[in-house]
Amino acid sequence: MSDSLQTLTDEALHALEQCADDDSLQAWKVKYLGQKGVVRDLMNKIASLPVEERKPYGLAVNGFKEALSHAYEARLQALQDAKLARDLEEGALDITMPGRPRQVGGLHPSTQTLRQIYAIWADMGFQVYKSRDVEDDDTNFTLLNIPPHHPARDMQDTFYTTEPNIILRTHTSPGQIRAMRDLGQGGTQPIRVILPGMCYRYEQITPRSEVQFHQVEGLVIGRNIRMSDLKGTITAFARRMFGEQAAVRFRASYFPFTEPSMEIDVECFLCDGQGCRICKHSGWLEIAGSGMVHPTVLRNGGYDPTQWSGFAFGMGPERMTILKHGIEDIRYFWANDIRFLEQF
Ligand code: DAH
Repeated sequence: MSDSLQTLTDEALHALEQCADDDSLQAWKVKYLGQKGVVRDLMNKIASLPVEERKPYGLAVNGFKEALSHAYEARLQALQDAKLARDLEEGALDITMPGRPRQVGGLHPSTQTLRQIYAIWADMGFQVYKSRDVEDDDTNFTLLNIPPHHPARDMQDTFYTTEPNIILRTHTSPGQIRAMRDLGQGGTQPIRVILPGMCYRYEQITPRSEVQFHQVEGLVIGRNIRMSDLKGTITAFARRMFGEQAAVRFRASYFPFTEPSMEIDVECFLCDGQGCRICKHSGWLEIAGSGMVHPTVLRNGGYDPTQWSGFAFGMGPERMTILKHGIEDIRYFWANDIRFLEQF
């Protein structure tokens, strides 16, 4: 290193030793290591040197820069340590004070219910099949045996998009068609899936209805699937979900995509079937719609209904969550109000 560089180094390090607070330290850094600082200046001189001097000069300046950077870091650390020691001594820092609790996130109540549902069905051999949120009109309705002028379309006020025939799915049932076509290999393979996802309906938002909500659809296709399979499977699910002693009942109902169709109730777990406000004093809570897959739907999925049969169901996780926790207003679910979310 040349003598002048050595002198500069001594000067700089000496000046650094004099820095006793943040301000002077920063000023030193600007002076030596800054954009227009001493190091930069020296670097700029390289171009004006004879070629053979450039390399040794560059190396020397780099060494200078390194030495200053290291010294700076060390000084910074020393000042911080000294401040900490002073604070401790003066009692400005009470290390016996309990720490502030850290806010940790939690799972949304719907997510908790969904995961519980997934786990139970997974134990029974059901895989999760993710269908799409943006559907076509055909799959959402027509292929599910709901023709254009069928009165059941009134039950589902639909969000239409600007694309013709492209809508937001109003239920997870169209996933049945997609699962059959996708997994069935031309109607030759059995299927056992659940299809969870968000559904959308163009409705007035009230304490009891929202424009978006989850459903978990279930679909089983096989060669000899019967109503007793449906009843046994759903009962097993309900016992895991609502307790071993939970009674389940099946009520005749109507859905265009199942025949016969049933509504599934469990005994009210809030009053043990005695009758309360939540179950409207009936002792029963409705948890799902279900039925044997309609032959037309089987055919639309690529299966021969004389050889194959199946059952399906659709349940609402938000509804289950509402019942479980006695939540009074469904609008809380997507309002993102921390006071609601933090209760779960
Ligand atoms: N898709 C129906 C709804 O949104 C629910 C449903 C009923 C699904 C019966 C099914 C079923 O798979 O078999 O109200």
